Amino acid sequence: MSKDHLLEKVRSAHYKKNGQERTIVTLAPGRVNLIGEHTDYNNGFVLPASINFFTCVAGSLSDKKQVSVTALDFDGDVDQFDLEKDIVPTDEQWKNYIRGAFHMLKSMGYSLKGCALTISGTIPKGAGLSSSASLEVAVLNTLCDLNNIQLSQVEISKIGQQIECGFVGLSCGIMDQLSTACGAENCALLIDCLDHQISHVPIPSSLALMIINSNVKRELSTSGYNDRRNSCELVAERLGVNSLREIPINTFMEQKNDLPAEAAKRAEHVFMENERVLQMADALEHGDIKYISKLMLESHLSMKNLYEITTPEIDYLVDIINNEIGDKGGVRMTGGGFGGCVIALIPKNLSEKVKEIVVKQYQAKTGLKEDIYICEPASGEKLEYN
Ligand code: GLA
Repeated sequence: MSKDHLLEKVRSAHYKKNGQERTIVTLAPGRVNLIGEHTDYNNGFVLPASINFFTCVAGSLSDKKQVSVTALDFDGDVDQFDLEKDIVPTDEQWKNYIRGAFHMLKSMGYSLKGCALTISGTIPKGAGLSSSASLEVAVLNTLCDLNNIQLSQVEISKIGQQIECGFVGLSCGIMDQLSTACGAENCALLIDCLDHQISHVPIPSSLALMIINSNVKRELSTSGYNDRRNSCELVAERLGVNSLREIPINTFMEQKNDLPAEAAKRAEHVFMENERVLQMADALEHGDIKYISKLMLESHLSMKNLYEITTPEIDYLVDIINNEIGDKGGVRMTGGGFGGCVIALIPKNLSEKVKEIVVKQYQAKTGLKEDIYICEPASGEKLEYN
């Protein structure tokens, strides 16, 4: 479904239910990470691109201090709560992203007005393409507009991250929220997660961004994600620093044999991955596709062998694509891991061939049917209808 179609669908469903009040419609993109996995919560570097799959939220004010949220993607399921009472998490995860946004803004001292929200999206859920971060960012931007709250996109991202930690139970970093809130057209974002500085990195025009969803489903909050973060924090603590970013890689390498073996492996991935992110930004700038290919493969193998977050299905996808493209493009798992998607940067003239191979071999080997998307870097949007 196109962006315009999604927007129209959400806007007309919202009008039907709530009448033609002043309505704010916010679109926030998903993201695909080109390289830099599990580096964000270690204050490291990441290189994502926001993509042309979106979450769309329509919102208008209502008289009472009540909130009513309609989720079109969950059969029109509705969540309702009272702004004058404590807003608490529920067992239904989709509701927690939205409740979390209200709770966070209230706890920052903002007085929020009652409102109605209608939500739908085109980002595949649970696939590692940041459907949740984009939901948080779209809801927060809508609420800021409806309540005249001025916050920068970096502040919005930090609140989104706190929703995940406090309301959803995932101790995530800030990459997803920053990529969806600050996404740009035609380029990837090199983000320094220490100070949230963002620079735009062009993607060579000869390459297509192909995402292959393995359809191995996972819920990061109940996966090994938080354990991986704990291991990195353990290493930082043993080395006497607040985050792995504070120590040079050589210092770590000299001391790694004195650290608990599993935690040392996790940290080694983070140190090497940070280096790869900076090299990848350079390789993209210079259109050095052979180097892009090498870095993406190294990143994948590091996630497989050191961070241990890939699955056999994902490894298989990476292998068959890699066999086909060789050093003409790059491929690796993207996102938090334990399932989800593979990102391939593929010469545009090879994309049909790669699709054919995946369609022919993946399901036959794994019993799962893949989804393939070709995307473009895209930014969010906010529209007002009176
Ligand atoms: C998830 C988290 C991010 C990041 C990635 C792994 O998407 O939400 O903060 O840690 O995993 O790179």
